[in-house]
Amino acid sequence: MIGPEQIHLQILATLPEFQRRGHASSLCKWGMKLVHQERLHDISVMASPMGYDLYTWLGFGIVGTFNIQVPGEEERLTLHAMKYVPDMKLLRVVADNGQCALM
Ligand SMILES: CC(C)(COP(=O)(O)OP(=O)(O)OC[C@H]1O[C@@H](n2cnc3c(N)ncnc32)[C@H](O)[C@@H]1OP(=O)(O)O)[C@@H](O)C(=O)NCCC(=O)NCCS
Repeated sequence: MIGPEQIHLQILATLPEFQRRGHASSLCKWGMKLVHQERLHDISVMASPMGYDLYTWLGFGIVGTFNIQVPGEEERLTLHAMKYVPDMKLLRVVADNGQCALM
């Protein structure tokens, strides 16, 4: 369930020639920092196969897995529902030193 105390990431993509330079993780960390600051429950995403490695690296965990497959076809897409739950001990560290040190 997604409610007002959560953030849900909708669409995230980096142009191929600019990938692996930290752009997507910068955007995600902005949202993760907001979850800490606003004391929200969590931030969630439906991770594509390419996004899975990014979100795992950022500390998101799997809460469910969905397989999307057209009946009669072999090809299928696996999406993981993932969420990041802020660590309140980390929140104190963030508040004490005045900057976000999520990672
Ligand atoms: C997923 C995507 C948004 C990542 O964008 P990005 O700007 O390259 O991501 P970052 O540079 O911030 O990556 C941070 C870390 O995530 C991990 N990561 C990101 N992309 C990865 C990939 N393709 N394979 C393995 N690890 C990956 C790495 O640990 C990376 O750190 P490193 O480069 O130091 O090893 C990009 O590959 C993309 O646009 N893919 C197509 C669209 C898509 O699937 N979006 C996700 C929707 S849920």
